[in-house]
Amino acid sequence: MARTVIAGNWKMNMTPSETKAFIETLKPMVAGKDKCDIVICAPYVDLATAVEAAKGSNIKIGAENVHFEAKGAYTGEVSCAMLKEIGCEYVIIGHSERRQYFGETDTTVNLRVKAALAAGFKVILCLGEVKEQRLAGITDEVVSMQTKLDLAEVSEDDLKNVIIAYEPVWAIGTGLTATPEQADETCGVIRDTIAVIYSSKAAKEITIQYGGSMNDKNAAELLAKKNVNGGLIGGASLVPEKFTAIVDAANA
Ligand code: PGA
Repeated sequence: MARTVIAGNWKMNMTPSETKAFIETLKPMVAGKDKCDIVICAPYVDLATAVEAAKGSNIKIGAENVHFEAKGAYTGEVSCAMLKEIGCEYVIIGHSERRQYFGETDTTVNLRVKAALAAGFKVILCLGEVKEQRLAGITDEVVSMQTKLDLAEVSEDDLKNVIIAYEPVWAIGTGLTATPEQADETCGVIRDTIAVIYSSKAAKEITIQYGGSMNDKNAAELLAKKNVNGGLIGGASLVPEKFTAIVDAANA
């Protein structure tokens, strides 16, 4: 019942002109592949170009973060209204690189999630354990707690606009991928947590992606798992052929 969503996370890559060329190349490659939603999340300065280039196609555009305040003295930040006005529909929140390098916490992630939902965005909420936590055997507790904290005060109605990306931090950009069994199991823990805090209906319907070195080679196996409803893809989303192969795996 959960919709499959294949989303690219470009991180700090691609200029506006590269963005235009990329989207124009990708459009015909993914046209008509409607068994999944297709999203490209790009740096702020690329978004207007991306939205324009993606017009009339099945590619949706997302930002990689958003601030929770409406406006004001927050140098370097970007608001929901700014992203809305340029036609951006999705926003990634709580990516582990934001948590690791930019001091993002479950509290600020929760504030951003609530602001983005109130503004009408679809949110891709990222969470996942670090290597030490997996080795210590506390992965389930960590992802369950992040799910609860990051979604605090989010209503079941608003949850319809939330996608959760389970991203084990040790698998991001490392070439190490969680095994399909690990991905399935931990996405299942997140789903069970949703059932506890919301309902079994919400748990069935929510899209839970896997992210962390998903690529054209391993996507089919990961996407075949019951609890994995898509992927958040970094490195492989920078190459149209690789990203398309993942979309194809979701459409098989
Ligand atoms: P990766 O990144 O696919 O390059 O591991 C995934 C992510 O950080 O979203």
